[in-house]
Amino acid sequence: MKTIAVLTSGGDAPGMNACIRAVVRAGATGGLRVVGFRHGFNGLMAGEHLPLDPRSVANIIQRGGTFLGTARSPEFKKLKGRRKAIEALKSAGADGLVVIGGEGSFRGAQDLIRESGIRAVGIPGTIDNDLYGTDFSIGFDTAVNTALEAIDRIRDTAASHERLFFIEVMGHRTGFLALEVAVAGGAEAVLVPEAPTDLDQLCRTLSESHRRGKSSSIVIVAEGDEPGVAFTIANRVKSSVGMESRVVILGHVQRGGPPTAKDRVLASRLGAAAVEALMDGQTGIMVGEIHNAVVRTAFPETWEKRKGLDLSRLALVGALAG
Ligand code: F6P
Repeated sequence: MKTIAVLTSGGDAPGMNACIRAVVRAGATGGLRVVGFRHGFNGLMAGEHLPLDPRSVANIIQRGGTFLGTARSPEFKKLKGRRKAIEALKSAGADGLVVIGGEGSFRGAQDLIRESGIRAVGIPGTIDNDLYGTDFSIGFDTAVNTALEAIDRIRDTAASHERLFFIEVMGHRTGFLALEVAVAGGAEAVLVPEAPTDLDQLCRTLSESHRRGKSSSIVIVAEGDEPGVAFTIANRVKSSVGMESRVVILGHVQRGGPPTAKDRVLASRLGAAAVEALMDGQTGIMVGEIHNAVVRTAFPETWEKRKGLDLSRLALVGALAG
């Protein structure tokens, strides 16, 4: 193996830059040439590549987003699109590929491996933290802390006005982000896709705590597969609770900003581990971290197996709501 390519794909996540830096520098240390492809698989199909050396990734470890750019690429799901990508990788001289992204990106990489024989290794980069094969994905910790800062601010105004707030957080069909911020933010309730939503029970809980003297409350709502769902839930609940209510959708603010120390360390470790895996002759795997050890998981397992949400934390939110 002489040359490896790296790209970021899907939704951006804080720590992707730190990860590209790690791939480039670990590659250089291992005597490899590294090229970057811009704009995810779209840029791969269009042959948009640039040489990356240790100096070209200076001063990016602290920056949010991804300097290579990213995209969701419907065209790459088609064989015709992937053939263009294979040609582009060959003309860049790349015999290995590192894909930093989520499930959709790994599915694409797996198709590419099957059709071209090019070796590819994935690194989990998504704020959703929904990939099997790693305790945490790059960007999750930063998104948790960004959402938490917003929730703390909302709590100030909620208390001042004695209001009920429904705060919707991202997570793409999973409740990892929602549950984490609900516990850390001291929310009164949390709604996640992994557990049935009982709106009558929610109304009872909120009304009872209102009667006990709680003058403001925060309900965290995971976006699930219907972003904006917090408005629907608020409309159904507010009249029976008897509190003035507001809805806040945190949205893409959760995807930006400088990565936390935890995300930078994870990104650095997994970037180096991906290069090591390619140099070991590995392909079709994601590198992740479980119980602080680097593990390699076959691509299909990352989407076929489901990482379980710790549902005991749902009960914890209820028990500590006061
Ligand atoms: O996968 C990351 C994520 O931020 C999800 O939490 C969210 O549902 C989705 O991306 C939003 O995607 P887009 O930026 O394409 O609107």
